[in-house]
Formats: sequence, structure tokens, C-alpha cells
Amino acid sequence: MNVLLIGGGGREHALAWKLKQSPLLDMLYCAPGNAGIAEIADCVALDVGDHDAVASFCKDKQVGLVVIGPEAPLVAGLTDDLEAQGIKVFGPSKGAAQLEGSKGFTKDLCARAGIPTASYARFSDAAAAKAYLAAQKLPIVIKADGLAAGKGVTIAATRAEAEAAIDACFGGAFGDAGTELVIEEFLRGEEASFFALVDGRCALPLATAQDHKRAYDGDRGPNTGGMGAYSPAPIMTGELCRRTMLEIIEPTVLAMADAGTPFKGVLYAGLMIEDGAPKLIEYNVRFGDPECQALMLRLKSDLLPALLATAEGRLASVELEWSGDPALCVVMAAKGYPGAYAKGTEIRGLDAAARNPDVQIFHAGTKRNGDRILADGGRVLGVTARGRDIREAQASAYAAVDKIEWPEGFCRHDIGWRAVAREAESSEAAGSAVPRSPLGRGSG
Ligand code: AMP
Ligand code: GLY
Repeated sequence: MNVLLIGGGGREHALAWKLKQSPLLDMLYCAPGNAGIAEIADCVALDVGDHDAVASFCKDKQVGLVVIGPEAPLVAGLTDDLEAQGIKVFGPSKGAAQLEGSKGFTKDLCARAGIPTASYARFSDAAAAKAYLAAQKLPIVIKADGLAAGKGVTIAATRAEAEAAIDACFGGAFGDAGTELVIEEFLRGEEASFFALVDGRCALPLATAQDHKRAYDGDRGPNTGGMGAYSPAPIMTGELCRRTMLEIIEPTVLAMADAGTPFKGVLYAGLMIEDGAPKLIEYNVRFGDPECQALMLRLKSDLLPALLATAEGRLASVELEWSGDPALCVVMAAKGYPGAYAKGTEIRGLDAAARNPDVQIFHAGTKRNGDRILADGGRVLGVTARGRDIREAQASAYAAVDKIEWPEGFCRHDIGWRAVAREAESSEAAGSAVPRSPLGRGSG
């Protein structure tokens, strides 16, 4: 089968790396890809915003499955336009992608389906939002409704801060994403991510992860797309995974089908765990980046038939096998990220760094210039390692980082600190795959 992968980040390199191992794969195309993906796939300069051009490419190259990595093409309806031309797609329709594309949509769905989440209200003008705010407890969370590249959320400690966030949002700080906003209760606890494949009716749990969103050590500094991640999340016990499926994922799948927008693809639930109970913070409708890099290193089964079964509504027959060994990804970013940074600086030592068979170096923002690999983005590499425990995975990843010669780059030095600390407390937590719940077997 020929596959077209859409995207060019570390997530897509990890997906490409895993797809490439499939005996079912013939040609792997990637648009646009990056220097790492180019070593294992045919990178093509398609305009992903031109849905007809993507469809023509798929017909010309006899593409049997399109795998869409990032959220923007999903929210723009690429899946709908390809499926309308008979092309199979892994990734939700435009209607189903609202789970990520509109925070208000997701909150309303949670309210209808009784899914545990922060209490909230939706607004489309500042005066009403401020009137509501006046009666709320602090801290309080203000969110632009639409896709705002991770920048649309303000956790306000004071009413003045909250009012400023409301004014910024309605003042156009997030463009169209900010014409509506959600004000919600601040949740306390520990965050974790839960991933499930969903084929419209049936959900198959994948694995759990935790990421580090802040730029600097000690979880300080500005928010980023993610400076590192590991899987599994030790806090996600088997019981918590079971409850997440039963109380959050499965009601969502049913509610989406009932609404006439069945969800197909990967559902990424951002959770807050407090007192042993999961609450939904938000949904993403794609794999996490860099969570995907850690997940792919733990997945033993062939990825391609699972993605195809998701697209074809046959997930009930799929079983996936996971390594009990944890995996951890350290992101190397260009100095200055998430602010302004330089492009075009040279990265050396990648081959030496990748010599450990437990290490995979996934490229994110890179390009090739002759024999040289150059930085070409903010997040540039995802140095990912597996180990018998999280401490070993962490040590292997950082040993590889140390071999990479890139003075213009930086990384955090404490990725996985929480899991390492927890592992020191109890060697029980890390490891097992998520058990499948009865509905996950397709009985629903
Ligand atoms: P989101 O874009 O909705 O994932 O929000 C980004 C980050 O803001 C989350 O990963 C949380 O760390 C934080 N956050 C969002 N909503 C809440 C909430 N209701 N309570 C506490 N923290 C939140
Ligand atoms: N690492 C967070 C995300 O992919 O949204």
C-alpha cells in the first residue's frame, strides 16, 4: 500500500519511522516532511491547503491511505474533501475536528454527555464575560475558542489579569480564534495525556504520556509546543485508564456519533487527575508532539493496519501490543524558542548520537543542504530513548543529546523528573499497557 503522510514535525518523523517498518507498506510519501523524514520517505512539495491538489496526487500515486499529522488540515476539512473523492484517510472530519477546533463545542458536548470537566461558560462579547467573571473564584481560566497555536489559554490569578485576557481575546490577539471565548474553573491536580484510536463507534486505548510545556528547567519560562515527553504516565494506573475510557472517551465517542459527526482518528485527551479521578481539560484530534515520539518507540505492533482499520471502521478486531519499557523524548530547540530564533545553523554528531539501538533521533525543524543538516524551525530534534525504567530511558536520551554538536540549540535537562521521582518511590507504577474496557472491544 502507498501512504501519504501530511506534516513535517517530529510527530510525523516518528509516524513515518513506524509506518516504514510495516510489511504492508510500498511507497511512503510525506508532505512536506523534513530532513529526517526524507531519509525514509519521498518528500513532496504539495500545497496541503489545496485539497484538490492533494486528491489528484493521491489518485496519481495510488495512495491507499492518507495519514494527517497536524490539527490545522483536519480543522480545515482535508479529510472530508479527500473522502468525497473516495480516498481513505486517517484523521477526523471537519465536524469531528471541532473537538480541538472549538473549546466551546467540546465543553457543550461534555455538559450534554455528563463528562467530568471544569465548569464553564461561553461568551461572544466582553461585557457579558466580565459580568460573569465578577462572580467567579480565582484563579480562573480564560480560553480563546478556536485554534491559537497553544497561546490562547490564560490562567489568571487576579480579576485584572482575567479582564485583560478577555480584552486581548476580543481585541483580536488570536484573530478568528478569539471571536468567542470560554471562561472555566481552574482545576488542581496532576496533568496526564491519554490516547485512543476511534473508528466512529469503537475506541481502542493506546497509551498514556506526560509532557513538559514550559521552555526551561523546573517547568519555568514561557509555554511551548512541548519540550519533552514520556510514556507511560506513572500516575495513570490501570484503574484510572479504565475510568478515563468509561467516563470520558466512550461517552464522547457516543455523543459525537449521535450528533452526526462521528469521530475517526486519534483522540488525545488532556486530563487533570485529582484525588484519583480524571477530568477532561481539553481534546486534541491528533497525536501529541512530542508524545507521539515516545509512543511510537513503545508500540510493538504494526501501526499501518491499525490506522487503516480506524479509517475503515474495523477497530473492534484490532489488538495492539506495547512494550512495558517506558520511552522518553528530549526536544532540542533553537536558542530563543518559543520567541525569535535563528534558522540555518548546522547540526553535527547525529550519527554518533543515534548509535545506541535504544535511541531514535526524530527530526522536527530540519533541512538538508548537501551533506549538512541545518536547523529550520523552533523545535528541531526529538531525541527519544527506551529503557528498562524511566531513569534508564532518561539517561540514554541525554547521553545521545550530549553527542549532538549544535551550539545554537538548547534543551531542558530535567525531562521526566516527575516520573523519575515517582519511580524512586515505587517501582510498581511504570510499564503496563492500558487495559481495554468492554466497550473498547466494540460492544458499543
Ligand atoms: P489547553 O490549550 O486547553 O490544553 O490549555 C493549556 C494548558 O493550560 C493545559 O495543559 C493546562 O496546563 C492549563 N489549563 C487549561 N485549562 C485548565 C483548567 N481548567 N485548570 C487548570 N489548568 C488548565
Ligand atoms: N505536546 C502537546 C501537543 O501536542 O499538543
